[in-house]
Amino acid sequence: MSPDIDEARHPFLKGLSKHRGAPPTVVVIFGASGDLTARKLVPAIFNLGVDNLLPGEFHLIGFGRKPIADEDFRVMMDEAIAEHSRRPLNKEIWERVRQNMSYHSGGYDESAAFDSLAEKINQIEKDLGRDMQRMFYISTPPSVFEPIIENLGSSGMAQAHVHTKLASKVVIEKPFGRDLESARELNKVINGVFEEPQVYRIDHYLGKETVQDLLVQRFSNSIFEPLWNREYIDCVQITVAESLGVGSRGGYYDTSGALRDMIQNHTMQLVALTAMEPPVSLDPESIRDEKVKVIKAIQPLKLDVDGGDVVRARYTNGLVKGEPVKGYAEEQGIPEDSSTETYAAMRLAINNWRWQGVPFYIRSGKRMARRASEIAIQFKRPPGILFSEGDKFNVAANTMVISIQPDEGVTIVMNSKIPGLETRVRNL
Ligand code: BG6
Repeated sequence: MSPDIDEARHPFLKGLSKHRGAPPTVVVIFGASGDLTARKLVPAIFNLGVDNLLPGEFHLIGFGRKPIADEDFRVMMDEAIAEHSRRPLNKEIWERVRQNMSYHSGGYDESAAFDSLAEKINQIEKDLGRDMQRMFYISTPPSVFEPIIENLGSSGMAQAHVHTKLASKVVIEKPFGRDLESARELNKVINGVFEEPQVYRIDHYLGKETVQDLLVQRFSNSIFEPLWNREYIDCVQITVAESLGVGSRGGYYDTSGALRDMIQNHTMQLVALTAMEPPVSLDPESIRDEKVKVIKAIQPLKLDVDGGDVVRARYTNGLVKGEPVKGYAEEQGIPEDSSTETYAAMRLAINNWRWQGVPFYIRSGKRMARRASEIAIQFKRPPGILFSEGDKFNVAANTMVISIQPDEGVTIVMNSKIPGLETRVRNL
């Protein structure tokens, strides 16, 4: 037992399942031999174990097309933890996760593979002598979302223990359809199999502490809220810039581009949290309702090349920290005729009582000069009757910059007097 872990307070190690009421759970990851499982999902599960947030009775089943023996899958995940975990390896906890981990191979459109998965889970329940919640995490290319969901339905797994606290859950990551029509089609398939409270359409930005902090900053500090409107704010600028390129994800990325990969999901969540009205409570439905109102108030974009609201671009080759890097067109997996953008910027008009006339400029791109996600609120300038030098108005607009990553914090740009005989203004 590592010295930093108190066994008495660590039910996961002791095999109890009382912590925070987390019920016995089987997590099935579809796409288990893929990159996301190794880099993010399994390390996140291990870190939950370290934080004492896993249920005592917990099983993880990796599902993938490639045939992989259970022990080989565990070894792959050992390597994943060593390389990608935020927390240092804690052998006791990892061993406990590992013991309860297995791999199930099959095609996503093969109903027999889902029937045998269901049998495997039934057997785990039998051995345990208790029912378990099933959580299905779909981490596959979008082309197989629908067959997976349909097979979860026809094998009976979607409906297992439904209407109890152990109702199955399904977690779906973006891209959620390609356009309105395909998103509606996907929803139809999901809602034909799962009831809405079983469905989690996730956006990992919402898991970031700094993003969650936006609601607290806005609605627990009374100094900001009175100014948070068209009377005092000139514009809002939201930037999600990455310094990395597309790396080995060219095949996926080229079907998405910056608009579908970053803007419609992560960046729009930041827009909604910045612009929304206070929700009536912090329950998920109330927050969602306020976000929906903001999104509904966004005016259709003008797409004209000159004077429109949207700019798209892509990176070419260049230097990063002095090292040459490829342009997007030369990256692995990018078709020759690709016209996918790696940068998108747009001007949004939110036509509601609070924001009419205040532009929201949003932008996101890969291979930018530095990695930075931030929200800048630019306030209106005060009247220019004082502190002018000749005809030059020397007072900066106050700006509040909320930094989401990599550095977290809030900066406020203010004007103050430069020490000296003359009254001269500087902004800090
Ligand atoms: C993902 C995108 O959703 O978010 C990636 O698919 C992007 O292209 C990533 O790099 C950015 O996430 P984060 O947490 O590093 O800002």
